[in-house]
Amino acid sequence: MYKTHTCGELRSDHIGQTVTLAGWVNARRDHGGLIFLDLRDRWGLTQVVANPELSPEAHASAARVRNEYVLRVTGVVRARLPGKENPKLATGHVELEVQQLDLLNAAKAPPFLINEEQTVDENLRLKYRYLDLRRERMRRNLQLRADVVKFIRDSLHAQRFIEVETPILFKTTPEGARDYLVPSRVHPGSFYALPQSPQQLKQLLMVAGVERYFQIARCFRDEDQRVDRQPEFTQLDLEMSFVTREDVMDLIENVFTAMVEQLVPEKRLFAKPWPRFSYQAVMDRFGKDSPDIRFGLELKDITDLAPQSGFKVFADAVARGGHVRGINAKGLGGYTRKQIDELTEFVKSFGAKGLAYLAVEAPGGHRSTFAKFLSPDLLAELVRRLEAEPGDLLLFVADQPAVVYEALARLRVEVADRLQLRDDSLLAFCWVVDFPYLNWSEAEQRWDPSHHLFTAPMEADEHWLDTDPGRARGQQYDLVLNNFEVGGGSIRIHRRDLQEKVFRLIGLDVEVARERFGHLLEAFEYGVPPHGGIAPGIDRLTMILAGEPNIREVIAFPKNQAAMDVMAGAPSPVDPQQLAELHIAVTETEPA
Ligand code: AMO
Ligand code: AMP
Repeated sequence: MYKTHTCGELRSDHIGQTVTLAGWVNARRDHGGLIFLDLRDRWGLTQVVANPELSPEAHASAARVRNEYVLRVTGVVRARLPGKENPKLATGHVELEVQQLDLLNAAKAPPFLINEEQTVDENLRLKYRYLDLRRERMRRNLQLRADVVKFIRDSLHAQRFIEVETPILFKTTPEGARDYLVPSRVHPGSFYALPQSPQQLKQLLMVAGVERYFQIARCFRDEDQRVDRQPEFTQLDLEMSFVTREDVMDLIENVFTAMVEQLVPEKRLFAKPWPRFSYQAVMDRFGKDSPDIRFGLELKDITDLAPQSGFKVFADAVARGGHVRGINAKGLGGYTRKQIDELTEFVKSFGAKGLAYLAVEAPGGHRSTFAKFLSPDLLAELVRRLEAEPGDLLLFVADQPAVVYEALARLRVEVADRLQLRDDSLLAFCWVVDFPYLNWSEAEQRWDPSHHLFTAPMEADEHWLDTDPGRARGQQYDLVLNNFEVGGGSIRIHRRDLQEKVFRLIGLDVEVARERFGHLLEAFEYGVPPHGGIAPGIDRLTMILAGEPNIREVIAFPKNQAAMDVMAGAPSPVDPQQLAELHIAVTETEPA
């Protein structure tokens, strides 16, 4: 037998028992005489003591082992000497007095410490991911992720959902990113596409009468990497028939609330039930549609005051159709010129042309880029609108709305971090609804769906599609958690005529639509239930629950920021023979 107990299991109750443990040497201390080894497995650490007088052979072996060697040890559990207990360790009251020590495998010195948290270059961690995953932090993240998925599976099965797998080799799916393609050997010149999500398939499952489907689904999107984006990621993909958006939102809210209360009891929900905002409200208040609502510092609109202000920067922006909005950086009125310049550079990196400020000083006084252009009344109105008090720093951006929102949304979070307003023990879930159904794309000169092309417009707004499409709202809902969009879904179109109208509106040629989605349009002629669903991202959700700064920390084998697997070395060139079989000619390669 390799082990009778795990390394995290032994307690005072076990004192006197003979047990066998197996695991890795986490640390070794030679006290000239006694040798102490901390033996580690997935469940914990146990202190093992080798005493040359009790077992000379085991002691001699213990003298040869190094960190990360794999051992099996048999011995007697005994109480640690008084004063030598380690209350931080679950097994800290006992130790194992070794009688027999078998070396199962030796180990080279690892390229970074496993038994201690230290800053290690991420590519080095990824190259030796199997060692990185031995570390406590990563072990915890893997466990949490598994617990999240299990909780979801259990509760959805209990609610009569059925788990269905859908193909990975499929056809291009329109989620808005680039596809990963897989060449077909047997059909020269033809390609499968890896699914960006199982969107069409889950809708077809509704046509099939499944009614309540879910899947822990792998999705693939060829897009730029970010802290919350990987080329392949996992969704809880879910679809239901005969439901309204409230039904879908309530289901997720109930499952996720129970889940976080059970799995991360050390964190608290910021609000219960979760707040629901309209798209317009979150944009106006927070400047983004996936806001962090754990703190204030909300945006205030002063566009109407700008033309009278005499400050050219504001007035010109408004004359060009722009906005002027600002935030009150509470208590930062003492910021120096240099600190304000830093904030200015910060917003410039997000496209703003500058940052106008007003530091409110004790009664009536101020320092400002622009206050000299303002009448006392206007100044008073501005101060009132931003709820400013002496000691506050008001920061403004004037530009086209999209730039103002982006710059201030970023600035709001930056200021919150400087003021330490973001409480990591809070989970602030919220819903965002009432998105515009379509967005006008200047570049393409056409309407783009704001979610995806299967989302239904609000029934009451359907008529706008014929007259003024920009006014229609969609039946879309986004799930937001602490500054990240963690899920998106919608009630779908289930009528062929409406689906075809939407294809036309977004400039999708009827022939192209038939070629790409003919299967769906055809299915829509065979009795389609009203249906809708959602897809929360498991990686993003786990990242936030684990308190990790990026998504790679909760994925066992992620790609790095250049979308590469640095451990296996993927992607990599392939054998010319393989390419020939696939009827593929490479026209360009990366310089070595
Ligand atoms: P959507 O495209 O909004 O919707 O994606 C849903 C959720 O998937 C996660 N996600 C990602 N996670 C990591 N890396 C990525 N590159 C990535 N892209 C998306 C996010 C996001 O909120 N089929 C629809 C859902 C539906 O309508 O039911 C869809 O995929 O957490
Ligand atoms: P300038 O006229 O460009 O020298 O800018 C005067 C001040 O206004 C500087 O402090 C700029 O940072 C600020 N500023 C310039 N453009 C903008 C803008 N679009 N929004 C807010 N402040 C700006």
